[in-house]
Amino acid sequence: MDFSAASVARRRFLAFGMPVALALTLAGAPLEASAAPVVYLDHGHPVRERVEDLLARMSLDDKIGQMVQPERRSIEPADVARFRIGSVLSSGGSAPSPNNARSWADMYDGYQRAALGTPLRVPMMYGVDAVHGHNNVVGATIFPHNIGLGATRDPELVRRIGAATAEEMTGTGADWNFAPCVCVVRDDRWGRTYESFGEVPGLPSAMTTVIEGLQGRSLGDGPTSVLATAKHFVGDGGTDGGDDQGDMRVPEAELRAVHLPPFREAVRRGVGSVMASYSSWNGVKLHRNRYLITEVLKRELGFTGFVVSDYNGIDQIDGEPGFTRAEVAAAVNAGIDMVMVAQRWREFIDDLRAAVQGGEVPMSRIDDANRRILAQKFRLGLFERPLADRRYLATVGGAAHRALARRAVAASQVVLKNDDDVLPLDRDDEKIFVAGRSADDIGRQSGGWTITWQGAPGATTPGTTILEGIRQVAGKGRTVTYAEDGAGVDRSYDVAIAVVGERPYAEYKGDRTDDLRLSGTDLKTIDRLRAADIPVVVVLVSGRPLDVTSELRHWDGFVASWLPGTEGAGVADVLFGDTAPSGRLPVSWPRSAAQEPINAGDGKTPLFPLGAGQPYEDG
Ligand code: GLC
Repeated sequence: MDFSAASVARRRFLAFGMPVALALTLAGAPLEASAAPVVYLDHGHPVRERVEDLLARMSLDDKIGQMVQPERRSIEPADVARFRIGSVLSSGGSAPSPNNARSWADMYDGYQRAALGTPLRVPMMYGVDAVHGHNNVVGATIFPHNIGLGATRDPELVRRIGAATAEEMTGTGADWNFAPCVCVVRDDRWGRTYESFGEVPGLPSAMTTVIEGLQGRSLGDGPTSVLATAKHFVGDGGTDGGDDQGDMRVPEAELRAVHLPPFREAVRRGVGSVMASYSSWNGVKLHRNRYLITEVLKRELGFTGFVVSDYNGIDQIDGEPGFTRAEVAAAVNAGIDMVMVAQRWREFIDDLRAAVQGGEVPMSRIDDANRRILAQKFRLGLFERPLADRRYLATVGGAAHRALARRAVAASQVVLKNDDDVLPLDRDDEKIFVAGRSADDIGRQSGGWTITWQGAPGATTPGTTILEGIRQVAGKGRTVTYAEDGAGVDRSYDVAIAVVGERPYAEYKGDRTDDLRLSGTDLKTIDRLRAADIPVVVVLVSGRPLDVTSELRHWDGFVASWLPGTEGAGVADVLFGDTAPSGRLPVSWPRSAAQEPINAGDGKTPLFPLGAGQPYEDG
């Protein structure tokens, strides 16, 4: 018979109901000196013991509450307590008002205090998409999107970006990041191309170092450890036509060779959660795919964290709007442990309870889901450090993180054309003309998932535009003239720089079924600069390669800048040669949209191959 304090406490609890001392503890009163410590509240016990002790105290409703994640706009702190909710999320752009770091910390603590006020005092987790910095928060450092980080080929830099992001999250309380996306983009028409580190599995696999940056060497390793999420499982980047949330129709061998390896690597690095993909594989929605979620991810890859659905992802299972009890059961039985039910979470709770009571979902599945979720909460240290750590508020948008971001921007620039060494800009170039809609626009250079879900043009958050960066790096002795449309350019200028590209977008709103060419406005701006008969350098700010084939011969220089984020000076660092260009293409650059999907090894001849990128002559 095991007479350890934990076991004695559990037997006393199970045999006689809740001992007074324990009830007092759970109600927040001090323990009587003689009472056995409550195992799950004692971080001296192994996680597994704490999980089992807590699970044994939980009712079915306690357990169901841990498995549902409402969106913040549809739940108040009082309901988090009443329904024993285990997690709340901010969907893209869903922020407190005013939107600043301190307001976020206050909001987080409000939900957390409610959760801690429940009888078992199980802390909640707060999920955000901090996919290129803590990007919902005005003033946060916005790092280059993943496609630019893939161009750096620098896993250690990416780890450091994860660590910086985790610090900024920690100051605001947010302790769960729905990142990294480890998708392998195979068709650049996909609206989430920029969320991919590259078109071959080796790139996202290498960049899973960001998980270590976010979580630490292991989850809970230090005060700024946050839970990371490898997403979207599996094959979201391989759908036909790049159709977001579409169907990936490939043999299992290709799924395993191309799309699974980054998840294997993420699991090896101890990622605490995985998000299921909206997409389908050979006609079966991932959100109901028990083979891939339970057999492959959990059993074959040995994933011991928990699987979260995508936002209202279970609604899509039967192809009809909304969700049914059958879809709830299908998703949970497939192996989804926590369900992101943004609005109709009360209905979900009722449906799942009924499904358990009706035998459609076994209690063993509910317990397994809770074991997985609770283990991450214990590992994260949430029971010991449940509230926002306001010591880190000062890191939000701080100089150190912005300097790191600027280095990442410079490292992500890919020089694809440099005739007559027009780059780096000559120290003696006295007069520089800058044009283009993406030259002086933080919103355009940051892209989607910035302050709002879709992102937006304009001065959406503090930062340095590419034009401001050019002015800073050019220094006082030079003339830098800017006109968005290029008006006023003439032969008196030594060089013209056209900063052009895409409007911000996210997810399916960014899917392109057109010709992937530059906009008419951008082409007109470039033509005006060319008419001045001076060298023209085009800097492309986009979430993917675009069709530049017919225009390229008229350009003297061409730089793929991707979506650099708030630190636009990093682009100027490369244009002026303060930083030598080292970026290399993370995707094949198509000659036209007709070549899509185009990937290394597929026998097609791109305009620029995967890995292309020029150094400067003298460097
Ligand atoms: C979105 C995205 C997913 C994100 C989630 C929560 O629809 O597909 O990447 O993490 O919802 O915002």
